[in-house]
Amino acid sequence: MSIQRRRDLRAALTTGVAIAALVIPTVPASAVPTQGRATNDPSGQLTRTPPMGFNDWAGFECNSRLNEKLFTDTADQIVKLGLDKLGYNYVNIDDCWMQHDRDALGNLQVDATRFPHGMKWLGDYIHSKGLKFGTYEDAGYKTCQGAAGSYGHFQADADLYASWGIDYLKLDYCYQPTDAFPGKTDSQVAQIVYHQASEALLNTGRPIVFSESAPAYVCCTGKDFTDELKWLPDEGQLWRFGSDIYDAWASVLQNYGEANTPGLPAHGGPGHWNDADMLEIGNGGMTTAEYQSQFNVWAEMASPLLLSTDLSKLTPEQVAVVSNRDVIAVDQDKLGVQGKIVQSGTGYDVLSRPLANGDVAVTLFNKGDTAKTISTNGKTVGLGSAPFTLKDLVSKKVTTSAGTIAANVAPHGTVMYRISKHASPGAAPSVAVTISNPTPGAGSTPVTVTVADNGTQSINDLDVKLTGPADWKIIPGTQSVRTVDAGRSRSVTFGVTVPPPPPGKASNTLTAAATYRAGRTHDSIGAQQTLITNTPYASLAQATNNVAITDESTTAPGNFDGDGDSYSAQALAAAGAAPGATVTHNGVAFTWPSAAAGSKDNVVADGQIVTMSGQGSKLAFLGAEAGATTGTVTVTYTDGTSSTGTLGFPNWCCTDQKAYGAEPAIATDHRNTPSGPANQGTAYDVFYNSIPITAGKTIAAVTLPYTPAIHVFAVTAA
Ligand code: GLA
Repeated sequence: MSIQRRRDLRAALTTGVAIAALVIPTVPASAVPTQGRATNDPSGQLTRTPPMGFNDWAGFECNSRLNEKLFTDTADQIVKLGLDKLGYNYVNIDDCWMQHDRDALGNLQVDATRFPHGMKWLGDYIHSKGLKFGTYEDAGYKTCQGAAGSYGHFQADADLYASWGIDYLKLDYCYQPTDAFPGKTDSQVAQIVYHQASEALLNTGRPIVFSESAPAYVCCTGKDFTDELKWLPDEGQLWRFGSDIYDAWASVLQNYGEANTPGLPAHGGPGHWNDADMLEIGNGGMTTAEYQSQFNVWAEMASPLLLSTDLSKLTPEQVAVVSNRDVIAVDQDKLGVQGKIVQSGTGYDVLSRPLANGDVAVTLFNKGDTAKTISTNGKTVGLGSAPFTLKDLVSKKVTTSAGTIAANVAPHGTVMYRISKHASPGAAPSVAVTISNPTPGAGSTPVTVTVADNGTQSINDLDVKLTGPADWKIIPGTQSVRTVDAGRSRSVTFGVTVPPPPPGKASNTLTAAATYRAGRTHDSIGAQQTLITNTPYASLAQATNNVAITDESTTAPGNFDGDGDSYSAQALAAAGAAPGATVTHNGVAFTWPSAAAGSKDNVVADGQIVTMSGQGSKLAFLGAEAGATTGTVTVTYTDGTSSTGTLGFPNWCCTDQKAYGAEPAIATDHRNTPSGPANQGTAYDVFYNSIPITAGKTIAAVTLPYTPAIHVFAVTAA
């Protein structure tokens, strides 16, 4: 369930449920321990470094693989891969281990189908491998999946965990008991219940790491969020502060952005960590470079490193990512200072964190879709006077810098350095390469490759080779430079012919490879430049990229909603929307896509530009959403000016049919699923909506929103 849905749920539930008999005292100020010595851990010894290990949720949620075997297999794999030796010690179970209800005596009941040997047995198994055992509950009435929550049962539940040998508790915060504390703020209620839970853990006499999820439900601004950060370290050792991670780059950026909420990084430290959520590596939705970036950035931010995938399926490259001792050493650094952003630019950040031995960990993080050379300096990242030694923690290359810290970073990539404040005699100079962008479709255009020697020693016999896609012409292939002095840069120019790009979005890469000699050592370095083009389509029909309509006899090709469901061609035709038909709504006539059922017939809006013409006071659309959101349409006129409007449609079946000012234009009474038509007693509609345009001007092109929930079937000026 998404954080937003959980927030909505919380709002719905805080009013409805009343537990009158429970009287819970507030926390006396004197009982509030100092930072790093939480209620459950008076000695302050738990999690002096961020926890590492495994939690099943991101990889498995409550699917059929969530059972005892997943955890015994995971424990076995951790040992087999040697991950335990690297610090991956916790094997943690998330939601869905328990039954929906407590027993007659009020005890939690284990789901015996998933965990036939029970939790004590599983704990013993995990402990026998030298690992630690974690579990999950919720401080509210129910867990996020609706099973029995811990509220009102904290001590009994803690005693139960202790009897199983539990070493770590993640206490979530769905179904919050706000109604039981009239007049108290969200933060005050959370403080009361998390304090009770922490005290219950203390009372067991067993050291149990306590992970508190409360702030994730008020992330990341407002008084409740900042208030919670004040008491969280007094009750537990770490806290989820933000969104649920999912296996996509957008999610990594979302949680990364939340982790860098101003002021938040300073709350991380030994015994009290900000938890950016699980690592997605292995789950298949991202490239290895993207997983590497999540790993590096999480380590830079001193986040827990909790794997959440089938460890037996990790590729050798992925095992190498999570086994990188140098990156783990940054995460686990004893000083425990969370890295923070010290420099930002278009699509990139530079993060820095001081380390216990005086070194500084610097991550050049390219968040964007184009390669770029990111450059910072010793002063910005908190180093004293140069020269420095840079160790690239992934390639392991060691170089010397006279002050500039720069590297060309691939799209969605990171370059992570451990930098020490001294020169390494014999280390090669740090060199960075930058490539300028060619112009597509304009014949031969100059592309400059600049090689900067950021070290303390010159480089010689430099050869720069530039390559690109097969249909690009690059002249000459290689350029040479005799010497680049230390602290200087030299540029060479190539003639690059880029053919006119096809309609739509395209991304192409130029690659430079520089080889050179520094003293007696031969060295090399590469760089990329990404050319992203967004070329207008001649018509909306040419931009179609999704199959929204299928024939009832052949439903499988359809995928309007990302789950393989689609509109029924028969039901649409019955409502007047047959291929090529004119559909009129509000006096506006549209041409319904003339595509055959089962072929591409609509546009998932992700910023495409469509050539159009026409005049009027509004631009009218037929569309629907597999989601609920709006986006900006940009209309460009023949005189070069432009205007914008906000477009949104209701969800195709399931929301307010007038959302965002839209109206149902075509109503059908059922839909198709991959296995055939399905009538759920719900209407599946296509909607009419419009945005204002400048009357008297002639439209040249329309740029659709970058909002992939929005699907467009037809557009016309009226
Ligand atoms: C919430 C949490 C997740 C996971 C699920 C389980 O969404 O944020 O990490 O624990 O609940 O239901």
